[in-house]
Amino acid sequence: MSASPPVGQYAKAPADASRSPCPVVNALANHGYLERSGKKIYVEDLNAAMGQVGMSPLLGSVFAVPTYFEYHDPALAYMRKPVGAWQRAGSLIKNPYSFFDYFGCWKENQFDNKRKYLNLEDLASHGAIEHDISLSRRDFGEKQGNNDPQPDLIAEMLEFSSDGGKTLTIDNLAAFIKARIRRQLKENPGLVYGPPEHQVNCGQIALMMGCFGDGKTIPVEYVKAIFEDERLPVEEGWTKRTWWTMGLLEFFGAVSNLVAKVGVNFDVSETS
Ligand code: HEM
Repeated sequence: MSASPPVGQYAKAPADASRSPCPVVNALANHGYLERSGKKIYVEDLNAAMGQVGMSPLLGSVFAVPTYFEYHDPALAYMRKPVGAWQRAGSLIKNPYSFFDYFGCWKENQFDNKRKYLNLEDLASHGAIEHDISLSRRDFGEKQGNNDPQPDLIAEMLEFSSDGGKTLTIDNLAAFIKARIRRQLKENPGLVYGPPEHQVNCGQIALMMGCFGDGKTIPVEYVKAIFEDERLPVEEGWTKRTWWTMGLLEFFGAVSNLVAKVGVNFDVSETS
């Protein structure tokens, strides 16, 4: 059996590896910052890996910690007991991360010596962080599934570059998302895409633009490395932000900017 490459070095996922719908989390596993197998990933490891792309420890934990909350299938939400405002406020004071409890991807019994773990494919739990209208994955209800990268969607995204394939801007990506919404409204009768899904979608793009771009543009070469190879674009010249990591304020500002740019008002007549 050949030895695993050193941590930091890129290698394609091993044959039986578990991978997620997130190209960046997969890239972190392909560089060995997470178990290369993508199996039995503990919260401390996911949290630490966020530092490898230049996120502040607080912003990293806002994503990593709630991922280990229990998954609640949104299709069964009607069976949940309603929670009163005071009870909700109480649990927020006890645990501020509970604001993001709908991000939970962990399934009961995923314990190893009493420690919770996730396999990367658990991140595809539909309706938690995973949503319809992704940049590079098909929708949950489509036959290709919601986890594997789709080369035709990635190629289509790159065509939205307005400077001959050098960069993608926030406007380019906003236009791509709008085109995806228009098409999926026609092609996917089971489409679920409302304000919460849109917010998460824009959040993921904002993260990419902040950590790999300058907040407004990103080199197409970087986007190709991230989506086509699930690799950090080090060879292409990217270095992680160190002197000023991406924090909560920058993140929320970037998300609201992107939501405004996409400009979807969720009136169906607007997008059809
Ligand atoms: C704890 C950390 C993270 C978790 C649990 C996570 C999880 C996810 C999941 C489940 C998706 C799929 C959403 C969908 O399209 O349906 C996703 C997509 C995405 N994530 Fe992450 N992610 C994390 C960190 C990051 C970071 C640090 C970045 C960038 C710096 C990032 C960038 C993206 C991008 C650009 C997408 C969109 C992919 C697409 O639409 O095809 N993620 N993430």
